[in-house]
Amino acid sequence: MIEIDFTPGPMERLLDYVIEHYLNIEGLCPNTGLSVDRPQCVKCNYERHRGGGKPLYSCQNFRKVYLIRFLITHTKQTCDLIRRTIISDIAKIPNLFVVSFGGGPGVEALALMELLRHYDGKYDFVFDNVDRELSWQPIYQDLVRTFSGWIKNVDVNPRFSQIDVTGDFLAKQYDIVFVPWILSELDKEGRHRVLSRARDLTQPSKYVVVTDRPESALIRKISESITSIQAWDVIKSEPKFKKHCGIHFPDDLRAKFRAQVEYSTAYWVLKKHEVQDVPF
Ligand SMILES: C[S@@+](CC[C@H](N)C(=O)[O-])C[C@H]1O[C@@H](n2cnc3c(N)ncnc32)[C@H](O)[C@@H]1O
Repeated sequence: MIEIDFTPGPMERLLDYVIEHYLNIEGLCPNTGLSVDRPQCVKCNYERHRGGGKPLYSCQNFRKVYLIRFLITHTKQTCDLIRRTIISDIAKIPNLFVVSFGGGPGVEALALMELLRHYDGKYDFVFDNVDRELSWQPIYQDLVRTFSGWIKNVDVNPRFSQIDVTGDFLAKQYDIVFVPWILSELDKEGRHRVLSRARDLTQPSKYVVVTDRPESALIRKISESITSIQAWDVIKSEPKFKKHCGIHFPDDLRAKFRAQVEYSTAYWVLKKHEVQDVPF
């Protein structure tokens, strides 16, 4: 008789964990001062992500709705694009050194763990999450530590620094610098500063991974900023990478939170040159 293992995988467990620990919408709205309710918080999150005001990551309910709406899809999309591009190189490095600019809840750390768990090696890596919103820190560390507890061969040291990445800051050089869904929140100068910083903080011959929303005007602007920094080769870019996240969301949750289970992402995977071009 064939035995089928129905044990949920780490991604399914992650969704269950988020539902169990981060679903309670409560307290006062920072804008109105009135008690919140779920539909109002979902509407606020939805509209702000569609250009109706700035994202409000300092609000605990905004962050919770963000987790339900985007965490799983962003993580799966990041997994998929890395699998299609650089995984064979990075899976050779047992002690990866990785940073995410605007990593928020830790999408990129979760994606790397989800990928590396399928490899034979033992991984022990440092993941620096750099975000100006300090209140992501406990959520990031909770999610990454919980997820790594479900995986045997991957240990992560999840460090967090509250930093505005458009400013100057010191750091070491990394194997991967993620620039995830943040360039859309910046103007031209901000995009240039962040990408220049990403270039400086990447080891020669290693990688910068940019992900963002797939609107044509935004893709054009990001592509221009990437091209203006002549320090890397574009290994692969896809303007619209649409995929189902592959995880089943309960129907009522999906509808009530407008959860993104199928989502388009634009991405660029860049490999930094071995030797920097010196201008004459
Ligand atoms: C759309 S979220 C992306 C979060 C996560 N990477 C994901 O994919 O779900 C953008 C993140 O960038 C952060 N952020 C925006 N501008 C920033 C800046 N100038 N410096 C540092 N973090 C910034 C926000 O606080 C937020 O956590």
